[in-house]
Amino acid sequence: MLGCGVVGTEVVRLLTQQADDLAARVGAPLELVGVAVRNVDAPRDPVVDRALLTADADELVTRADIVVELMGGEEPARNLLLRAIEHGASVVTANKALLAQDGPTLYRAADEAGVDVYYEAAVAGAIPIVRPIRESLTGDKIRRVLGIVNGTTNYVLDRMATDGLELEDAVKEAQGLGYAEADPTADVEGYDAAAKAAILASLAFHTRVHLDDVYREGITSVTASDVAWAARTGHAVKLLAIAEATDDGVSVRVHPALVPLDHPLAGVRGAFNAVFVEAEAAGELMFYGRGAGGAPTASAVLGDVVSAARHRVLGGKSPEESTYADLPLLPHASA
Ligand code: NDP
Ligand code: HSE
Repeated sequence: MLGCGVVGTEVVRLLTQQADDLAARVGAPLELVGVAVRNVDAPRDPVVDRALLTADADELVTRADIVVELMGGEEPARNLLLRAIEHGASVVTANKALLAQDGPTLYRAADEAGVDVYYEAAVAGAIPIVRPIRESLTGDKIRRVLGIVNGTTNYVLDRMATDGLELEDAVKEAQGLGYAEADPTADVEGYDAAAKAAILASLAFHTRVHLDDVYREGITSVTASDVAWAARTGHAVKLLAIAEATDDGVSVRVHPALVPLDHPLAGVRGAFNAVFVEAEAAGELMFYGRGAGGAPTASAVLGDVVSAARHRVLGGKSPEESTYADLPLLPHASA
């Protein structure tokens, strides 16, 4: 693992507490061989075995089958992931900023090395949205993807609406709860939502959408009195990400919007996210859940780790599906 902060600590907790279940689901035990951090001496949650900590991330990525990047930022994350891929590791990352800037470099390197890049946690925390768009809906034609994909700004706008908090005070709360990026400017200026919108648009429209292609407007100019005025006129202020097919190609944008209070998006509270997908044959689909925070994001990361491990152990099958499985039978309840 690279990084052991808000998300990384919860990944270690799940890996440790669910070790037996995960081994059964993969078909082999998952062993955490090391955790690279900036400061090995910093205080940590006791769930993290200090003997696993290292400041030498370069060395760590050469001796793992699966590298999980939870450091954030473009460098050194990018070079470490490339190095891991070069050494034949499968990689899992929650780093939307890196993927929206330079994902294709990683995907190309992974193709050449015959390994995979997994990134379900990079968009909308716990909500499964990457795999449904990339895999389940790939036979359909997606027209539009629209929703709330940043938990911090949704939490902030919610606190402004319900308690009249000013933006700075609400951001401090979101930081304390582990929702915000290391630099919360990424959240409030809309960069984080724009990165997620770029990833979703690339998957939905089978094209490359770079962060710079996304029109972006954050919530820094929204005041508590704007939010109160919106409520009086029957609206909630929400930071929306919208990606849609147009006659000229694809349009991707992130900006605050007035959402009528009877619309489902107006009811998305706190750090929750919601994504609507409109597809030609499937019609309208809605994905909803916790969009930020350590444990919800760790759930998505662990899902990717299990998928990566299954690919390495059983070629992608679960032990239940494997023809080689010799699984214990569940005891049958007697009639
Ligand atoms: P944190 O800031 O809490 O943790 C970052 C971790 O990375 C720390 O352990 C830090 O070490 C380590 N780190 C940072 N730089 C380096 C470096 N150069 N070398 C070695 N270690 C380094 O971040 P989060 O856990 O919140 O986020 C991690 C990733 O997950 C980011 O990409 C973020 O965008 C993404 N994400 C976060 C979500 C959230 O709700 N927080 C939700 C979805 C995705 P040290 O502990 O020593 O400082
Ligand atoms: N800072 C991000 C958010 C974390 O608030 O949504 C989840 O990606």
